[in-house]
Formats: sequence, C-alpha cells, structure tokens
Amino acid sequence: MAGLLIVVGSTSGNAQLVSDVLSDEFKEAGYDVDLFEDGAMDDAALGDRDLVLICTSTHGLGEMPDNIDPFYQELAERTPDLSHLRYGVIALGDQTFDDTFCKAGRDFDALFARLGAARVGERLEVDACTQPLPDDDALDWMKEWVTLL
Ligand SMILES: Cc1cc2nc3c(=O)[nH]c(=O)nc-3n(C[C@H](O)[C@H](O)[C@H](O)COP(=O)(O)O)c2cc1C
Repeated sequence: MAGLLIVVGSTSGNAQLVSDVLSDEFKEAGYDVDLFEDGAMDDAALGDRDLVLICTSTHGLGEMPDNIDPFYQELAERTPDLSHLRYGVIALGDQTFDDTFCKAGRDFDALFARLGAARVGERLEVDACTQPLPDDDALDWMKEWVTLL
C-alpha cells in the first residue's frame, strides 16, 4: 500500500479540516495515511517516506501556524536531503493579506524544493475571502493530484 504523510499547519481549524477530509479520501483510495500535526523533525521520519502532502494556513504577517513552526525551523536549520521525496502543497490564506498571501505554504514549497524534493502538480492556494469551504477546492485538487502520482 502506498504511504502518504500529511503535514498539517493550522491555527483555527481550517487546514486541519481539509487534512482530515483528505486523509479519509486518500484512505478510501488505498493509501496508508499518517498525519503530522506537531513534533520534531525526526518524529516525521521523512527518511522513510516517499510522498508528503503539506497542508498549511498562514498566520500573523506571513508566519507559520504555531503547531508546525518548530518542524519548519528545524528542517530549515538541519537541511536534510529530501531528494527521495515527492510532495504536494495546499496553502490556505486570505487575499487581503497582499504581500503574505499563502506565505507559509509557499515557504514550505520553497524549502522542500531546496532540500531536493520533487513537487508533484501545482500548489493549491485557497483564499478564505472567496472560498468559505476550503475542503471543496482541496478535494477537486486531490482528484487531479492522484492522477499525477
Ligand atoms: C490573525 C490572522 C493572521 C493571518 N495572516 C495571514 C497572512 O499573513 N497571509 C494569509 O494568506 N492569510 C492570513 N490569514 C488567513 C488564514 O490563513 C486563513 O483564514 C486560513 O483559512 C486559516 O486556516 P486555519 O484555520 O487552518 O489556521 C490570517 C488570519 C488571521 C486570523
């Protein structure tokens, strides 16, 4: 069975909801899914993975949600080789934050690429201003994404 790690960054629950909905869908599709919601880099066991989905909102002024910030900072500091990994990104944000729209998802995307991982498909960016149901967009995106794996 193919494995998938979903890395969740969420402050008020939207990205958590999207991750939970997608986790169920991926399980239905036959994937062995783990959710990573906090913890140190080694807890994510990235060396043993081959597929990661990052699903994070942005908070503050372009900051990571608190639950996932330590993981992001440790990855950026330790710079492990992730060239064995494929990944996708779902970024939740709000267009009214012009300069920092979806910045946490974009930063994760840039970091994974810098560490050698290969992104599958385009990054999904969900604007809370125009899309009150982020799981709808995420489910549509997932249908396309799985065909690319
Ligand atoms: C205090 C606060 C700061 C935010 N800052 C940003 C931001 O800098 N950029 C952005 O795109 N969205 C920003 N947002 C919007 C959230 O990312 C968006 O509402 C998202 O859906 C929240 O998801 P969550 O419930 O999983 O945290 C902010 C929201 C709040 C409440």
